[in-house]
Amino acid sequence: MSERAQFATKLGVIATTVGSAVGLGNIWRFPYMTAENGGGAFLIVYICCVLILGIPLMCAEFAIGRKSRTNAAGALKVLAPKSQWHIIGYIGILASTLILGYYMVIAGWVVEYVYQAFRGDLFTQSATAIADNFNTFKTDVWRPLVWVGALLVINYLIISRGVTKGIEKASNIMMPLLFLILLVFCGYALTLPGAAKGLNYLFNPDFSKINGGVVLAAMGQAFFSLSIGLGILITYGSYFKRNVTLPKTGLTVALLDMLVAILAGVMIFPIMASFGISPTQGPDLIFVTLPNVFKQMFMPNLWAVLFFIFAAVAALTSTISLLEVAIAYISEEFKVGRKKASIVILLIVAVLSVLSSLSFSLLSEVKLFDMNFFELSDYFSANILLPIGGFLLAIYVGWVMKKRDFLAELGGVKHSTILYKLILFSIKFIAPVAIIFIFLSLTGLFKI
Ligand code: PFF
Repeated sequence: MSERAQFATKLGVIATTVGSAVGLGNIWRFPYMTAENGGGAFLIVYICCVLILGIPLMCAEFAIGRKSRTNAAGALKVLAPKSQWHIIGYIGILASTLILGYYMVIAGWVVEYVYQAFRGDLFTQSATAIADNFNTFKTDVWRPLVWVGALLVINYLIISRGVTKGIEKASNIMMPLLFLILLVFCGYALTLPGAAKGLNYLFNPDFSKINGGVVLAAMGQAFFSLSIGLGILITYGSYFKRNVTLPKTGLTVALLDMLVAILAGVMIFPIMASFGISPTQGPDLIFVTLPNVFKQMFMPNLWAVLFFIFAAVAALTSTISLLEVAIAYISEEFKVGRKKASIVILLIVAVLSVLSSLSFSLLSEVKLFDMNFFELSDYFSANILLPIGGFLLAIYVGWVMKKRDFLAELGGVKHSTILYKLILFSIKFIAPVAIIFIFLSLTGLFKI
């Protein structure tokens, strides 16, 4: 047991966990959602969701991981032997692997655009040519797969080196780089003539837009962005040393994750407002709308290179965390070396990514429930497995795990303190109810 890997420093704990949280969700989803759903008003709702739901559930996952000091499925076998609670771990392993299948494809698109930005010719083309460029690339059979392959190798090189020398070291380098690029962009965006208009679009509070659906969307975004319910935080928590205070870590990670999401908006909206281009969300924002903006900027290639490296780093640190869930499971439960376990999981992810990537070309007509493989893996993992995993987690920690054990893991929080009571209250009552509503609304079983 004592030989088990641990993150070496507290800074490493923050860098790796923020690395998992900060991903494409922060860049292409959060800014647009905020702007569309009431700006500053949505931000307040989102902050409440993170504080009331996100941080307590992060603490719950961290606690399970650190107490058991093992992988997501093994953790619940240790803590709740002779029961079925370890299904939480299996759900996490399945969900994170399925998510990887399509997340790796999108990350591959980002790397293609790093390459295109270095080549430079994309940013001399017309708006239609830029849109066509993305469509042609996405629907090509081989080209996206080349980048998926490259990413699988990069992930292998980092993750096979181990928890401290691989994941922690890479995050310690990549996360400051990510913040640096973001700050350079924000500095530039704020000096543009359209800055005030862009910021107004993002922050102006419009309380009339807030309704039940928006609150549910904010909760869903909080789960997605903080990587809750996938076993990632159980796995990373199992690498935390005893001197790491869980609520403080949860709060720091949540604040930094939110900061990146808000700064992504501060970078994107003023730039768009200044160049008269309307904001979009999803892949189109990154691969079509932004290139149209870059081409109007002074030194388009430089900005494009910086932006796509930023997005690639955000995606890479998230894929590492998604991979680690299954790799830790395979290596610990089947007692195989880390390198072998990494290869097995990367091969499975390779197959899923090929199927996802081909969903835009050869397999575009292969559909189940009217969704291609890419859409199906997203739907099944994010809308079904993730809420079920989160729900079971809340029930286990809130109702089954001994209060004394949970408290001991929270570290430094006294039994009687209000903070502890609030965290437990949320895990016991608020989280399960909220997750049921998110699940029903995501699956369309309930409409507000
Ligand atoms: N939290 C990361 C993001 O926001 O992109 C990674 C991630 C977690 C992606 C969970 C997808 C997901 F379902």
